[in-house]
Amino acid sequence: MNKIAEELNRYPQDYWDFKGTTKSGIHNIGKYPATMVPDMQYQLLSIISEHLNNENITLLDPFCGSGTTLVIAQELGINSVGIDINPYATLLSFVKTHKYNRTDIYDAISKVKSNLGKESNFPIYDFYNIKKWFREDIIRSLSQIRHCILLEKNQDIRKFFWICLSEVIFKFSNDRTSTFKLHALPKDKIDLIEDRCIEYFIKIINDNSEYLNYSNTTSSNIIYGDSSSIINNKLKGEFDIICTSPPYGDNPTTVTYGQASILFLKWIDSKDLYCSQELLEKYTTIDKISVGGEKRKIINTKDIKSLKDFLDKISLKKQAKVINFFEDYYISLKCMKKCLSKSGYLIMTVGNRSVDTVRQPLDNITIEIAGKMGLQVVSKFNRNILYKKTPLTLSMTENEKVVKSISEETILIFTK
Ligand SMILES: C[S@@+](CC[C@H](N)C(=O)[O-])C[C@H]1O[C@@H](n2cnc3c(N)ncnc32)[C@H](O)[C@@H]1O
Repeated sequence: MNKIAEELNRYPQDYWDFKGTTKSGIHNIGKYPATMVPDMQYQLLSIISEHLNNENITLLDPFCGSGTTLVIAQELGINSVGIDINPYATLLSFVKTHKYNRTDIYDAISKVKSNLGKESNFPIYDFYNIKKWFREDIIRSLSQIRHCILLEKNQDIRKFFWICLSEVIFKFSNDRTSTFKLHALPKDKIDLIEDRCIEYFIKIINDNSEYLNYSNTTSSNIIYGDSSSIINNKLKGEFDIICTSPPYGDNPTTVTYGQASILFLKWIDSKDLYCSQELLEKYTTIDKISVGGEKRKIINTKDIKSLKDFLDKISLKKQAKVINFFEDYYISLKCMKKCLSKSGYLIMTVGNRSVDTVRQPLDNITIEIAGKMGLQVVSKFNRNILYKKTPLTLSMTENEKVVKSISEETILIFTK
C-alpha cells in the first residue's frame, strides 16, 4: 500500500471534521463563499510534502478561490501558483500571500485615516443600478473611502485596502447576504441600516493589518483567468502537488461566486484587478464564464458510466446544464494531469450536490474520469462540513425553491 494511504488510514474518520476549531488570522479576511478548511489543508499537505522526495516542492491550486491552500502552502515553505476566474478571488489570494512591509502598512493606515478625516471634496461614485444596492448616504460614505484609497500610491497596499472595503460593502449594502445570489433587502430593513461605513472601515484595516504576511518569503504567484487556458498557454513546468476544491456544479445552480463578489468588484478600481471592464459590467458574467457556464460539446458522456447513470435519473432540462459542467470539468482534469509531475499528487476536495433531488456522485465520476486518464487513487475519505462559511441555504433555484447546502465532502488523492 502507498505510504501516504497507510498514514491516512491511521486517522479516525471524524479527525477530518476538525470539530471545535474555527478559522482565524489571515483566513478570516475578505468575504468569499464556500472556502476550504485550513486545518484540513495543513494536515494533508504536511503529510504529502513529507513523503515527497523533493526539497523544493511546488504546488498548484487551479481553483484557488480565497487562497486557503496557498496560505497553507506558504506556511509549509511550499512555492505555489493559484488561478481563479473571479478577479475578487485573485485579489484576495494576492493580499493573503503577499509579503508586506509592516512600517509601510502602518504609515498607509495613518495616512488613509487622516485623509478620511479631512477629504470632503470627492466625486460621488456611480455605476449601473447602484441605488438598488446601496442607500444614498452609504454611497456617499463608500465614495469617500474609495477616494481616499485611490490617494494611496502603492498598488499592493491599495489591494489590501480594497479587500477591507469589501468587508464594509458586505455589511452595509442592501443585499441580504443570507444567500450568495444577489437579492435586495425589503425597504423596511434597508431603512434600518446605520451608516457606520467609515468607522467600520477603520476598524477593519486596523484588525486585518495584524494578520498580513510580514515575514514569509515563500513565493505565491496568483494568476487571474480560466485555469485550463492558463495551464495550456501560460504555465511552464510541472507541479509536485495539485491541491484544489473545484466547483461542484455550474455556478448559477450551486454557488454563485461571481454574484457574491460583484458588488465589491464594482467599487474596486479596475487597474488594480487586471480583468477587463466588460467582465464587471453585468452582474452575472463571472458565473457564466466559470466552469460549466457555457456549452462546449467536447466529451462523449456515454463513455463515463457513473455520469451516464446519473444523467439517466434526472430531467432532460437539467441534463444539459450538468453536461456543460462535466465538459469543462473533464478538460480541467486533463489539464491538471498534464501539469502534474511523475509521482506527484493530486488532492481534490469535492462535494456531491443534488440535481432534481438525486445526488450527483462527483466523487465517483471524478475517480472514473481520472482513472481513464491514467491517474491512480491513493486515498478517498469523507468529512462532515461543520463550519464552512455557507448560509443555511445555498441559493434559490429558478422557481425559487431553496437548495440545501452540502453537509459532507469527499477528499480524493491521486497519483500519476
Ligand atoms: C470551491 S471554490 C474554491 C474555494 C477555495 N478552495 C477556498 O478555500 O476559497 C471554486 C473556485 O473555482 C473558481 N472557478 C470556477 N471556474 C473557473 C475556471 N474556469 N477557472 C478558474 N477558476 C474557476 C471559482 O471562481 C471559485 O473561486
